[in-house]
Amino acid sequence: MHNTQPIGIFDSGVGGLTVWKELVNSLPNESIIYYADNNNCPYGPKKKKEIIELSSRVVDFLLSKNCKIVIVACNTATASAIEYLRSNYSAPFIGMEPAVKPAALNSKTKSIAVLATEGTFNGKLYIETSQKYAKDVELNVKVGNGLVDIVEKGLVDDLETENHLSQLVKSLIEKNIDHLVLGCTHYPFLTEKLKKVLPDKVEIVDPAPAVIKQTRRVLEQFGLLNMQNLSPSYEFYSSGKTKILKQLLKEITTKKTTIIEL
Ligand code: DGL
Repeated sequence: MHNTQPIGIFDSGVGGLTVWKELVNSLPNESIIYYADNNNCPYGPKKKKEIIELSSRVVDFLLSKNCKIVIVACNTATASAIEYLRSNYSAPFIGMEPAVKPAALNSKTKSIAVLATEGTFNGKLYIETSQKYAKDVELNVKVGNGLVDIVEKGLVDDLETENHLSQLVKSLIEKNIDHLVLGCTHYPFLTEKLKKVLPDKVEIVDPAPAVIKQTRRVLEQFGLLNMQNLSPSYEFYSSGKTKILKQLLKEITTKKTTIIEL
């Protein structure tokens, strides 16, 4: 392994771009290869076994491209597959952590909520994290039905989206929450819309910055951090259509990118 090798990152679709953006900003000398498994999106309602198979296929692809580390920029894939990946591949893996801890620590109303997919809530990681960190708060959970689809179809600015979100968070507002943890990497694309339907006091927590800090720590630990490359490359591969990927990339970055439909 050498520090000049790229970082691999994947998601079921475009959601992981919210983590990619943080990665580019925080580690600007790293070349990055992103894989969007659009053909198999969403992962949320799928069985653990299938998510393990899909994630392994993506990891094989990223490792064949010589990646030095893999960021699983998908809470659902982390919940179902990270243990398997860590025990079957020698590359280091970074997973998405549900950010229950900071939300619980900072809550004044002692009531917080997590918005995630079914697959994430069923995972051992989520159950353990919530038991460990949310002892002193009321933890409300909500499956973000339809939200991945809204982002994948480019419907974030649709009039209906705000109504849909408003319905989703209604019961959480009634619980007097003051923190909403985004437990799916697609959801930060909906942050502005969520702010419109939530009371001002509710802080929206995106775990991406913490995940990228952890990525830096692990790269340092393995002597794999690249601080010198002044012209990093940004490649994107998709197993499906790339229209929304291209559209969102235009919105979030001015960097030169290469996008390939497989
Ligand atoms: N971005 C994925 C996550 O963080 C998407 C879930 C899905 O594909 O259903 O969970």
